[in-house]
Amino acid sequence: MHYYSAFSIINALISVQLYNSLNMNKIIKKYAVVGHPIEHSKSPLIHQSFADEFGMQLIYERIDIPFGTFSKEIISLKKEGYLGLNVTLPYKKDAFNICNQLSDKSKLTQSVNTISFNGEMLIGNSTDGIGLVKDLIAKKVKLKDRTILLLGAGGAANGVMYDLIAQKPKKLHIFNRTYDKAKLMQKNWEILAKNNNVNIAVLEYLSIDNTNYDLVINATSSGLVEGAMPMASKYFIPETIYYDMTYGVETPFMKASKAKGAKTFDGTGMLIEQAAESFFIWHKLKPNTTNTFKIL
Ligand code: ATR
Repeated sequence: MHYYSAFSIINALISVQLYNSLNMNKIIKKYAVVGHPIEHSKSPLIHQSFADEFGMQLIYERIDIPFGTFSKEIISLKKEGYLGLNVTLPYKKDAFNICNQLSDKSKLTQSVNTISFNGEMLIGNSTDGIGLVKDLIAKKVKLKDRTILLLGAGGAANGVMYDLIAQKPKKLHIFNRTYDKAKLMQKNWEILAKNNNVNIAVLEYLSIDNTNYDLVINATSSGLVEGAMPMASKYFIPETIYYDMTYGVETPFMKASKAKGAKTFDGTGMLIEQAAESFFIWHKLKPNTTNTFKIL
């Protein structure tokens, strides 16, 4: 039979508490990118590289969320102790709907690509637009007083409108396969555009005379459809800069632009810059994005 003195019991309790608090300090912060499909996502690589730059330990995973289960899965990830999530296709609108606190940009774009969990709060931000703008600035593409044609009127196109308008281009024109969607988009952004002196308009059709812009941005998902083009090759000209928000594949849009000898960019830089903005929201640290280019 064993007898424990009050002293040894207190000692044991203190040791357990000490052990727990040491372990608490060792808990590694958990983040993830969610979407469907998600295997292709480069976000874990990018966030790990940012974390390495600051000698920070974190876990950043890819999590596939099947259709119809978004809200349920997000709540269980919160319960599992994830501190933040990046959200990619097709859930940016669902993420907007589930958050109970939203940044102004998210409210206007109706899109959330960065969720932060804080107690009971799900805080939503949208960093895609600033990601695009920062990448264009890094590439020395001027936006102020310039003319821009944005191809597409879906989530990706709407997601960058706030930040493009904030750069005060002279013209921000939209062309989309489905005209009515582009008109709706114009309506949503008209007030902000007016307040920033930006001429916003929708093109009904493309022709050799109305495709002469300083910058054409492809925000359609046509690059994922074999051979599909959001703008016919005959309208590409060497003087225009062409930017495709798609990354990881050379789209027909990029090929057509290169064939004309025009400056052509894909969306890799935007991907890195939007990740850097999310990283800043979560960790209040600004990573060096040029280092990250080298590892992708
Ligand atoms: P995302 O979130 O990627 O923007 P989305 O909201 O489904 O996805 O929008 C896809 C965009 O790409 C739309 O502007 C779509 O045009 P429609 O509105 O006419 O559907 C555009 N798009 C997709 N496939 C296309 C194609 N083959 N040619 C031209 N535009 C295309």
